[in-house]
Amino acid sequence: MINDLWYKNAVVYCLNLSTFMDADGDGVGDFKGLMRRLDYLHGLGITAIWLMPFQPSPGRDHGYDISDYYNVDPRYGTLGDFVEFTHAAKSRGIRVIIDLVVNHTSDQHPWFQEARRDPRSRHRDWYVWSDKKPANAETGMVFPGVQKTTWTYDKLAKAYYFHRFYEFQPDLNTAHPEVHAEILKIMGFWIELGVAGFRMDAVPFIISEKGPEVDKPVEHFDMLRSFREFVQWRKGDAVLLAEANILPQDDMKYFGEDGDRMHMCFNFQVNQALFYALASADTRPLGKALNATEPRPATGQWGLFLRNHDELDLGRLTEKQRQTVFAAFGPDPSMQLYDRGIRRRLAPMLDGDRRRLELAYSLLFTLPGTPVLRYGDEIGMGDDLSLPERECARTPMQWSTEPNGGFTKAKKPEVPVISGGPYGFERINAAIQRRNPDALLNWMERIIRMRKECPEIGWGAFTVIDAGDPGVLALRYDWRNNAVLAVHNLKDKPCEVTFDPGPTGASPRLINLLSEEHADVGEDGRTCLVLEAYGYRWFRVGGLDYILRRSDL
Ligand code: GLC
Repeated sequence: MINDLWYKNAVVYCLNLSTFMDADGDGVGDFKGLMRRLDYLHGLGITAIWLMPFQPSPGRDHGYDISDYYNVDPRYGTLGDFVEFTHAAKSRGIRVIIDLVVNHTSDQHPWFQEARRDPRSRHRDWYVWSDKKPANAETGMVFPGVQKTTWTYDKLAKAYYFHRFYEFQPDLNTAHPEVHAEILKIMGFWIELGVAGFRMDAVPFIISEKGPEVDKPVEHFDMLRSFREFVQWRKGDAVLLAEANILPQDDMKYFGEDGDRMHMCFNFQVNQALFYALASADTRPLGKALNATEPRPATGQWGLFLRNHDELDLGRLTEKQRQTVFAAFGPDPSMQLYDRGIRRRLAPMLDGDRRRLELAYSLLFTLPGTPVLRYGDEIGMGDDLSLPERECARTPMQWSTEPNGGFTKAKKPEVPVISGGPYGFERINAAIQRRNPDALLNWMERIIRMRKECPEIGWGAFTVIDAGDPGVLALRYDWRNNAVLAVHNLKDKPCEVTFDPGPTGASPRLINLLSEEHADVGEDGRTCLVLEAYGYRWFRVGGLDYILRRSDL
């Protein structure tokens, strides 16, 4: 296959417009501000931005409640600003992926308003209604503890409407042909304005059968194919990245056996096993999750992440594993959410420990897939647990020691900047770190650069190698006559491991890509490594003549 599926070796940066950079001084981030920070992102080395929802919205779920799919919320700018932004990103080689939130609308969307007012209106059937309260109304909530039901009575409509998420997010009847056509139209619109693809929100729910009688919803996977066909027809290299927290046995249904559905899916299975490994220093479940999620079409790719804008969902771990992660990273109930997850940012979970932060990121960058970073994590930003639910990890980006961390000239930003303490903007900000070669930000820049030079990781076939110690994860990638080996010690103690790294070719050496030290492979085919606590190594197997050795196919 020709090596130009850009998303296979991309580095994605996910950000909330509202908390990134405020240029117009109203205390909320905007496109002008983001545009002025594009050179920062370009310097960091990321190749794509995933922009969270920015369309008009009452803002009750951070923009995931859209009231007009064809516009920009005036607080962020105009459609004109949006096009300037995609153009400016493109001229720096950065692609823009936007959220496609079409499982539901805001209850303020004119479609819903019309639907509830008039049973004969064109938009009535665009939503999911029931005259009586369905028997299963108290099941299937996505935000347990906060959300009480999935069916809410609407007085005007004199009927119950279905909402998988909060009650102000009525589900669209996505099986309705007109709704389906509208979804395609929305994608087509933003593609014309310069986007490179979509992060599809809540995919399993979009394709699920919906209705009062539905107990075990059947998924309509052929819908995914029609989205893919449309997107690819309109823009050949546009991608669909699915948010689908699913079991490995269903992965291929989302990618499509012939690679004809989603280009990318987030790997929630690996994410949860990864946090369990970081909490317990037992990498075996992670190895299992990697192997279980290995099958995918050649054109399919995993999106990998540590933290995102939501809670760290641990729902797929066993009860015991989950309790281990809670104990290590979120022992206080105020740090937990929805009976299944942790709402903190990465740095405070790891006690701001630089060794552990590097370990976590080094793992992210060497697992099979495309890494997705969360804004602010590159400088080790913290969270504000006084904010409700997931808002705690969505505070303004900390740019400098200027008032409000340099995020805004407004006296009072809409969301407070973290100030004081170990994670306050006075201590943690991009400007300070920019000037210190040893800072996390500059480490991140270097590791991203190295990651991009290792297409083996994005493209190659991987093997989980038994390093003889459950606290050590060794992963080898093979691609076009080249191999890369990544070794991580997840324990808080140093260790020595001896193992067979696989074939080395003519030169029996492992060349360290990040420092001067190398390792030899003995005649017995084994190598011996001493790793410090939380230590990590990236090796090229053989020599540094790998570019010369790389084959074309
Ligand atoms: C997805 C988003 C989340 C949002 C929800 C409803 O899970 O990641 O932030 O609240 O969908 O749109």
